[in-house]
Amino acid sequence: MTEALIALHPWIKAFHIIAVIAWMAGLLYLPRLFVYHCEAAPGSLQAETFKTMERRLLRGIMNPAMIAVYVFGLLLLATPGVVDWHAAWIYLKLALVGGLTGLHQLLASWRKTFAADANRRPAGFYRAVNEVPTVIMVAIVILIVVRPF
Ligand code: HEM
Repeated sequence: MTEALIALHPWIKAFHIIAVIAWMAGLLYLPRLFVYHCEAAPGSLQAETFKTMERRLLRGIMNPAMIAVYVFGLLLLATPGVVDWHAAWIYLKLALVGGLTGLHQLLASWRKTFAADANRRPAGFYRAVNEVPTVIMVAIVILIVVRPF
């Protein structure tokens, strides 16, 4: 098992990054869809189309991508020599991943609110939420590539 993890390390890392890209695409796009959805009249064809787009984005892309990020990420953690557990960056990275996961859950619950035509938040709220995954992603990439501490 350990030898297999070492031999497959570049492949596991490649699929980790591919999954991260798909997850991030969804985390950035779903709040953007909510912004446009706010401006569509409930019951209109446009609003119903947004509901379908939001459901498919979450279930078809974001949920599987998040699971894949975790599976490949945990395999990387289990690979000998990849993480120095005395360095702080990995703990901070994992905390930030927790932040992205929390945001994912919030977006999923807001999607349900939109699906029930029960959203009361203004478009500006979702516009602000849209900035959050960007900031967290920038911090994670700097931590993992630069490993400053
Ligand atoms: C459960 C969640 C995650 C775990 C356990 C995890 C763990 C890891 C580990 C241990 C590495 C080091 C691989 C190596 O140096 O060979 C790595 C690489 C990487 N991770 Fe994650 N990660 C997770 C989520 C994320 C997320 C959410 C992002 C971005 C938003 C991300 C971006 C990256 C990138 C860009 C690399 C490649 C860095 C390089 O080229 O060395 N990871 N991950």
